[in-house]
Amino acid sequence: MRILGIETSCDETGAAVVTDQGVVSSNVVHSQVRVHAPYGGVVPELASRDHVRVLTPLIRRVLERSGSAAGDVNGIAYTAGPGLIGALLVGAAVGRSLAWAWRVPAIGVHHMEGHLLAPMLEDEAPDFPFVALLVSGGHTLLVEVREVGRYEVLGETLDDAAGEAFDKTAKLLGLPYPGGPALAALAERGVPGRFRLPRPMLDRPGLDFSFSGLKTAVMLEVREAGLDESARADLAAEFQEAVVETLTVKARRALEQTGIGRLVVAGGVGANRLLRERLDSVVRTLDARVYFPRPEFCTDNAAMIAFAGFRRLQAGVAGGMAIEVRARWRLDELTTPATAAGARP
Ligand code: KG4
Ligand code: ZN
Repeated sequence: MRILGIETSCDETGAAVVTDQGVVSSNVVHSQVRVHAPYGGVVPELASRDHVRVLTPLIRRVLERSGSAAGDVNGIAYTAGPGLIGALLVGAAVGRSLAWAWRVPAIGVHHMEGHLLAPMLEDEAPDFPFVALLVSGGHTLLVEVREVGRYEVLGETLDDAAGEAFDKTAKLLGLPYPGGPALAALAERGVPGRFRLPRPMLDRPGLDFSFSGLKTAVMLEVREAGLDESARADLAAEFQEAVVETLTVKARRALEQTGIGRLVVAGGVGANRLLRERLDSVVRTLDARVYFPRPEFCTDNAAMIAFAGFRRLQAGVAGGMAIEVRARWRLDELTTPATAAGARP
């Protein structure tokens, strides 16, 4: 079986061909960073237009690279939400139209289910159940994953996502968009502790997060102190330390609370070096194991969408002709592929 995956939920256009067994035969991502950089953030209308411009040539390219003709594709999986509504509509319209033209089933995939299952694209895939820490520009979640489609959200951010906090703080420190990696690089040159930032929600029980106060605290420091280069690096280091400590403590708590010995990290912030180091040492003390998908599967991509869609198409779940997308969509509204197949009219 060959599944064509399509990802257009935000500011990356992705197309991929994934075979059964989760073998990625081609995976291409086109980043819109240059489109949005002058505005310092994603402009939804420009995102939609760029997806329209890029998506069909990208699909042609992944088909060629995987040595597939249109007739070799057995199913199509596109991101149906959550995300920017106009951007989602582009992928859904193209995915559904191709499915109609090629007479194959198509399915709308939950973007976060794609992220959750991305580590299963790796050779050393985690067994179920596992705890997933999803940290991206739009989401910060701790999820207990029992099987495909059985997700319990253990904790989530009450305000900004971790990546969003990185991006907004980077802007405050005068760093270019997208700020997360730039802030992490600046932090490498600084030392934490010279500035003291709060560790949001650490003193409270539970597994929720809050990052907006941290950004405000940075704003106050920047305003009061008028920082030189070394102070900016120290503030960046302290900010990174505060976010990473919060994520690490809550991830540890989730493993202890569930008694599960496998932690999966997904989403763009999962690329952060300090976070990876700290999570490595947490799992060592718990005799647990942590799984980091390779960076191109951590950030937005269509291979993870194709894979998540494949598990559902394989169970006989496919959508009708309607082009339906959802800007908001809770992960725990999903059901297992078998349940979804049984529920079909
Ligand atoms: O998963 P992703 O590619 O896109 C979505 O948001 O869905 O995540 C992007 C986020 C951005 O906020 C970016 O600044 C952040 O991940 N990010 C990082 C690093 N690399 C990317 N944050 C901290 N440290 C990094 N090394
Ligand atoms: Zn994402």
